[in-house]
Amino acid sequence: MQIIEQLKSENRLRAAAYVGPSPEVRHPRWSFHDVASNRDASLFSRLVWDAMSLIFPDGERFFIRSVRHFADQVKDPELQKDIRAFIAQEVQHGRLHEVFNSTVTAKRYNIDGFLKFMSTTAYDWLENFANAINPKFALSVTAAAEHFTATWGRTALQSERVNNIRSDDLRELILWHALEELEHKHVAFDVLRQVDDSYTLRIGGMLVTAGLMSFYITTAFLWLLAQEKEIDFAALLHDVANDVSDREGVANRFLVSFLSYLRPGYHPRDEDDSLLIEQTRERLKNSLMLSVKTA
Ligand SMILES: [Fe+2]
Ligand SMILES: [Fe+2]
Repeated sequence: MQIIEQLKSENRLRAAAYVGPSPEVRHPRWSFHDVASNRDASLFSRLVWDAMSLIFPDGERFFIRSVRHFADQVKDPELQKDIRAFIAQEVQHGRLHEVFNSTVTAKRYNIDGFLKFMSTTAYDWLENFANAINPKFALSVTAAAEHFTATWGRTALQSERVNNIRSDDLRELILWHALEELEHKHVAFDVLRQVDDSYTLRIGGMLVTAGLMSFYITTAFLWLLAQEKEIDFAALLHDVANDVSDREGVANRFLVSFLSYLRPGYHPRDEDDSLLIEQTRERLKNSLMLSVKTA
């Protein structure tokens, strides 16, 4: 029932599609040295974040490859400009998440085994297989993944938990990445629409993305968890149960996001995030570690 109510309220937001603010390219320089002494999150929320951060860099390079493959076919100059900004933003996301992963996560865990497993299975095997059959499928996987990252971004920007993160570098990383996911949320989708607007292709991409994202995030989570010396299982299970029952929890947002993408006629900009984008740009304006460059 809760999910049906959420879908209804999201449908009300779709009264009128909007043309959102253009993506801006920024060049952050966070070092994350203030994270170790400021990590006050529970084991569950820390590992969910660390797992997501592990899958971002390779995933974002895949998004770039799949969009760039079709960039020449796009004639609309506005979309061409947004594609350039999308690529530049995703390059920065991958770079900064790698700094975070090596500076913070790798100090505590061995991450190389997981990264090798993911790059071999997801990119050497699955991506090459998809491209051999039809590169449009990789693009449709990216459009669906961008729908999930936009949902994550919106949730993060509305979350009190993010505001309460004590490390300035980590809090700003999340705000910045979330902001840019909303700024460019339409790009891969619009390229896909121009290349092939088949509903079957779009939904096929979503089904594969939903399965693979859940699989790799869960595997990364378990990979890190298995290296923890002392685990308070009661607290961990309590946090998992809380997340599942929380309307803003990872599981709920993922499911609502998945279902909303199935609607025929869906477009990422049906949901107006312009106020959230504007507010977050304002919040990050004074960050000394973040400079804005034109695309
Ligand atoms: Fe990204
Ligand atoms: Fe993205």
